[in-house]
Amino acid sequence: MSSLEKADKLHALREKAFAGGGEKKIARQHEKGKLTARERIDLLLDEDSFEEFDMLVTHRATSFGLEKKKIPGDGVVTGYGTIDGRQVYVFSHDFTVFGGSLSETFAEKILKIMDMAAMNGAPLIGLNDSGGARIQEGIESLAGYGKIFLKNVIYSGVIPQISAILGPCAGGAVYSPAITDFTIMVKDISYMFVTGPAVVKAVTGEDVTKDQLGGPGIHSKRSGVCSLVCEDEREALLIIRKLISYIPQNNMEDPIRVSCTDPPDRMEMWLDEFVPDNPNKPYEMRTIIEAIVDNGEFLEIQRAFAPNIVVGFARMNGHSIGIVANQPSYLAGVLDNDASVKAARFVRFCDAFNIPVLTLVDVPGFMPGTVQEYGGIIRNGAKLLFAYAEATVPKITVIIRKAYGGAYDVMSSKHIRADINYAWPTAEIAVMGPDGAVEIIFRRDIDEAKDPVARKKELVDQYREKFANPYDAASRGYLDDVIIASNTRFRVIKALEMLAGKRQTLPPKKHGNIPL
Ligand code: HXC
Repeated sequence: MSSLEKADKLHALREKAFAGGGEKKIARQHEKGKLTARERIDLLLDEDSFEEFDMLVTHRATSFGLEKKKIPGDGVVTGYGTIDGRQVYVFSHDFTVFGGSLSETFAEKILKIMDMAAMNGAPLIGLNDSGGARIQEGIESLAGYGKIFLKNVIYSGVIPQISAILGPCAGGAVYSPAITDFTIMVKDISYMFVTGPAVVKAVTGEDVTKDQLGGPGIHSKRSGVCSLVCEDEREALLIIRKLISYIPQNNMEDPIRVSCTDPPDRMEMWLDEFVPDNPNKPYEMRTIIEAIVDNGEFLEIQRAFAPNIVVGFARMNGHSIGIVANQPSYLAGVLDNDASVKAARFVRFCDAFNIPVLTLVDVPGFMPGTVQEYGGIIRNGAKLLFAYAEATVPKITVIIRKAYGGAYDVMSSKHIRADINYAWPTAEIAVMGPDGAVEIIFRRDIDEAKDPVARKKELVDQYREKFANPYDAASRGYLDDVIIASNTRFRVIKALEMLAGKRQTLPPKKHGNIPL
């Protein structure tokens, strides 16, 4: 065979790999409004930056006639490239080949780039579109998933791991994303379930659609599995690029600082009158966030899940930060089970990747009642407490209005090692809100009064006068300062820059025992 003929053989093999499951299956993929594995990579990465590995790998299975069906690449495209010039590693399932299902060799391809990503300290991005373990391969595919899960866990907190769900994903194809840091879904094409509707019907008799079982609506609002929902795949891939911009390459680096055109000393005078005089009146916390961060840009994570707490990324004077903020316009910003878990996971991500945390507080307390107690509010609230207390990144807290009870302690108070604690003049810091407090400590006094309603109001006013302000806390040094609301951006940026060199460690231990 001449050199040219040898080169032709290579071209033919490559063409076969590029063809994936064939024209018909690619057309079917497009009909469903889905892109192919390679089209996705092209949109995700900087132009012409992708270098592919293992394009010629084929499976080794011999059962169920699989030995006659071998497609180079075996249903997953793997390699590395750049996003805004920064290196990332990518795998992209090809649903046109055996439904993107995972074989032994498919797993080996993914494991190879996981190790490379960790060794070279760069993020791993998984574009998932897979029916899970390749059923015909049996234990080999289960072993493959097991090894992937192991590496997901071992590299958690070492390199950022991001998953996009771009098709009906089942079994291992959802457990691996569940271990990663962020999971992005797309309306009408993404589904996540342990097993699909057909298996559900066979096992439990339950009739359920893919959407009801594991569509983006369910996972973004109810289960909390999904971090971000997008309108289409293009948006999903762009949002991954954006997310990556806030995050460092690995746990040994700081996030990159971008140039900032928004003046750090920008005042927002209207903020001084923004908090309603009536403490029971809600307001939109995102308005404050957008007013103080660079150019009003805020990338919110898990927006629809536990909307009583808001988490996400922004920049201040070009520095990447994570924001955790109670949301008074939903359930008065109360901390419940879901809100506690959502915020705890976000704080832990920021801490793992050296991203300072800004906490904006307006919290009436923990949600009382049987639903929350039976759901484990003690355990779940403790997770948030644990996450904040353990975090060694710079932590800045601004109390906007209410900071009552245990929730005051938990929301990054001075007592659990926040570095800088500020409050607005509108802050109210006490063991509990005036109504509840007066009912408990003055119940007999109120019952015995000639006019119980008037007496209660008098006592509530007294209590509010004494506690519903930031000055008691400030007089003890639990607050570093009471700041003018309009100047918040400047004061937070000054604090962030002062803390840039912060070094804090925990005592040597294997790991703590967060109340899971
Ligand atoms: C082999 C698979 C497959 C699988 C799909 N296919 N899933 N082949 N192993 N796991 C193949 C189909 O046979 C079909 O091949 C092609 O992919 C497209 O599948 P369709 O069913 O036609 O597509 P769709 O209707 O869109 O449904 C997609 C689906 C469904 C919802 C993912 O295929 C499904 O329910 N698959 C099984 C999911 C599942 O229960 N997996 C178990 C994984 S257990 P042809 O040749 O006809 O095009 C697991 C364990 C890991 O992963 C450990 C967990 C802890």
